[in-house]
Formats: sequence, C-alpha cells, structure tokens
Amino acid sequence: MKKNRICELLGIKYPIIQGAMAWISEGNLAGHVSKAGGLGIIAGGGMPPEILRQEIKKAKAITENPFGVNLMLMMESVAEQIDVCIEEGVKVVTTGAGNPGIYMEKLKGAGIKVIPVVASVALAKRMEKIGADAVVAEGMEAGGHIGEITTMALAPQIAKAVSIPVIVAGGIASGEQFLAALALGGEAIQAGTIFIPALECVAHDNYKNSIIKAKDRSTVATGNYTGHPVRVINNKFAKELLELEKVGAPVEKLEELGRGKLRLAVVEGDTTNGSVMSGQVAAMVNEISSCEEIINKLMKELKESKEKLENRFNSWM
Ligand SMILES: Cc1cc2nc3c(=O)[nH]c(=O)nc-3n(C[C@H](O)[C@H](O)[C@H](O)COP(=O)(O)O)c2cc1C
Repeated sequence: MKKNRICELLGIKYPIIQGAMAWISEGNLAGHVSKAGGLGIIAGGGMPPEILRQEIKKAKAITENPFGVNLMLMMESVAEQIDVCIEEGVKVVTTGAGNPGIYMEKLKGAGIKVIPVVASVALAKRMEKIGADAVVAEGMEAGGHIGEITTMALAPQIAKAVSIPVIVAGGIASGEQFLAALALGGEAIQAGTIFIPALECVAHDNYKNSIIKAKDRSTVATGNYTGHPVRVINNKFAKELLELEKVGAPVEKLEELGRGKLRLAVVEGDTTNGSVMSGQVAAMVNEISSCEEIINKLMKELKESKEKLENRFNSWM
C-alpha cells in the first residue's frame, strides 16, 4: 500500500485516527486501534499524571505501534503530563482547549509530533506558524466539545489555508464520509463516536447502547449559551441543561450541573442523568465490533465508495 503524508508522519498503516474521548479512550482502546493499523489516542484531559503513565503502559503492552496522547491545555497538570509522555516515549500528542505554543519546543525537542485540534481557519494558521506537524479540523457534527462550523464548510477552508496535513474530524462513520473527507482536502480522518461501542472500549454497556440506539436527530448541542457548546445525546440531563439555558440561569449553576456528568454516564452507566457525549453519526453506528473490524470496515468501504463514485461520474461526465 502506498503511504500518505499522515501515515508517513505518524508511522501508521491507515490514515485513521481514533480521537481522544475523556473517560472513554484509555490505554486499552488506544492500544487496540494502533494494533489494528490506525492511531489510537489516550485522552489525557483531567487524568492525574501517574494514571496517564499507567494507561500509556497498557497501550504499550498491547502494541509496539505508535499511539498518541491528547492534552487538554487548560488542565493544571499539563506540564507533568508532558513529562510523562516524554519519559514513556509517546510519539504523538494532540492538543485541545488552548494554544500549545509554550510547550512546543519541549515536545518537538523530544521528537513528539504535535497535532492541535482546531475549529477555525485562524487557529489552524496560527498552529502551522508555531510548528504544528498537522492539524485536526473538527466540525460541529462531532461529539463532545465543538466549534461552530460544520466539517463540510471548515475542512476545505483549512486545507486551503495551511500546507501541513489536515486530518478531518466530525461526522465520519462510513467509507463514503471518509472519501468525502479526502475530497475536502483531508489526508486522514479522526473519528470518535464510531469507536465508543468497540469491544475493547471501557464505556459502560448503557453508554454503548445509547449510541447504538441513536437516530439522526438524537443529539443536541448544549452550552451554546455559555460559549462552550458540547454535543450530547438528548436525554433528561441535556433537557434540564437546555431548559436552564433558556431561562438564562447563571453560568455557575450550569457548570455545577455539568460537573462529573460524563463520568456518571461512562463509568456508572447512568445515561439518564449523565452526559452522553456523542456525534451526529451515532445513528450510523449500529453494532458492537472490535477495533480491528471497525478499521478494516472503514478501509473496505472507502475503496468501495471510491469505485461507486467513479462509476457515477463515468455515467454522466
Ligand atoms: C465522548 C467524547 C469525548 C470526547 N473527548 C475529547 C477529549 O477529551 N479531547 C478531545 O480533543 N476531543 C474529544 N472528543 C472529540 C473526539 O476526539 C473526535 O474529534 C470527535 O469525536 C470526532 O467526531 P465524531 O464524534 O463525529 O466521530 C470527544 C468526543 C466524544 C464523542
């Protein structure tokens, strides 16, 4: 198989990245995604550094292939998390919730590839300028914390604005969507939601079932009101939050209501009162399967969709 820039850069077989998912993507999931030829990412956001080290060791025990760690830059322990990544020989770091500028020299000096997640052209350009190796252009179809622009509109604008490789995220669960991401200028995809029901994923069965049962309109974006939108399944928790936003409740009250709710859903399986973060493509995820099956299916569908598209073009162009 010929390699593309992302595969070369990251030393992976397929241009498929499993996006970080707080509480969900730990060492086991990331290790199995990387073992299957993609790039698994451990969600470091909020993880105490020594727990992060354990999760990195878990992934290393599963595969010798590279995997990554996601750092949420507003977290207090980011500097210690970076030390752990360097000590453990992590090859790739993705960053969110801020500007990784002050850590860039240290990360790059340790040979770590740095890939910020961005939701605007301006940020993508700034990240290229400070030495990012690639960017993830994430549209608002994605699960979890989101920006304001759709993948369809965002990805091509970023791909035109920067010359480093662009990884497209948000709304990708099939070969057709993978192909579309490449057509938009992406050189790889990052997917989160599709990996939640993976056999190797630690999320509670209730969480996995919420994804499997979801329909096209099952997710909503909460938090638009506070300026920190989050895409979740529209359950009792989301409805309460949206109701409070509608009546203009104080931001502190909304933050209080949201505290610990992702953990409640992922770990304890309370998908009624917990925050079930999910992308809009949850409706397209209908079964529990292994990371290897998910990745192989995506690659097979990608090839099939390319052929189908060529046939469609040939019939009228
Ligand atoms: C449950 C959940 C938690 C997430 N947590 C994080 C996170 O901690 N850090 C991050 O950069 N992105 C996070 N994301 C975003 C994913 O890494 C990924 O970019 C996104 O899921 C891609 O869109 P998709 O859901 O349509 O596949 C999360 C997504 C989900 C669904």
